[in-house]
Amino acid sequence: MSYVKLPVFDETGYVVVDSYDQAADPKEWEQLIYVDWKSSGDTRFAPLASAYGAIECDGFWNHNPPKTDKDGVWVTENVAIAPRLTERAQEPGANVGRCRVIELQPNTYADAIYNLHRDDNNRLNPEGTGWIVRAFFNLTDNPDSVMILREDKDDPATETRIPLPAGAQVVIDTQRLYHAVWHPGDEPRYCLITSYESSPELDAWISARGPRPRVDSAYVDPAQAQEAYAQAEARRAARAAALAAQGQDPRFGDGTMAAATTSGGGMEVLSEA
Ligand SMILES: [Fe+2]
Repeated sequence: MSYVKLPVFDETGYVVVDSYDQAADPKEWEQLIYVDWKSSGDTRFAPLASAYGAIECDGFWNHNPPKTDKDGVWVTENVAIAPRLTERAQEPGANVGRCRVIELQPNTYADAIYNLHRDDNNRLNPEGTGWIVRAFFNLTDNPDSVMILREDKDDPATETRIPLPAGAQVVIDTQRLYHAVWHPGDEPRYCLITSYESSPELDAWISARGPRPRVDSAYVDPAQAQEAYAQAEARRAARAAALAAQGQDPRFGDGTMAAATTSGGGMEVLSEA
């Protein structure tokens, strides 16, 4: 037994679809109710659908009773504030799990490489049902920001960098691909992130929007890239040493949550992009 997966993801694990005309919509994300993620004060989320409808963003498997990343319950308060974003999340007609707007503060390429992680979308998902993938609808216009994807976390040759202007839409198997967003600039980036169950409905939505399972990567200066890789590696080594000193196995610091040591001290935990 295995999961139902859509063939469009076979080649690369992601698919870019036609851009949405974001400029025509109100900026609903500016009014939403946001919550901090874990101990981080940097990254915030505004849930549109959560495990049981509360204004919180924990994985559905961390609730009582635990559930897989499907059948999200719409968050009344935020749906009332953002009816258009809710409509967009519902438009594919596939089963929706977690659905939220992320507010991501500016970061560096090294930050993003360090934060590369895979999601735990299919925990508790019964085999024989649809594999959970995630859609990223960029809301703010961030043409110089990129979604970084890697098949192999430690191999830059497997990297794709997808530009994120307003309206950019990409659906990603984030349990297969390591991912993180590099967002230069001086204002937060906002993006609607929705978990969908792979299904004929999702397939039809993607197919109707000029799906491209491979796009050219945005340029990055090779010297800057090398410096970023070195910085990220040094931070990983430091973190592994810190965890080892606490008696923890650093191998388990990966996966769903990439922990980043912020320049201001303390631990920042990011599980999104
Ligand atoms: Fe993620």
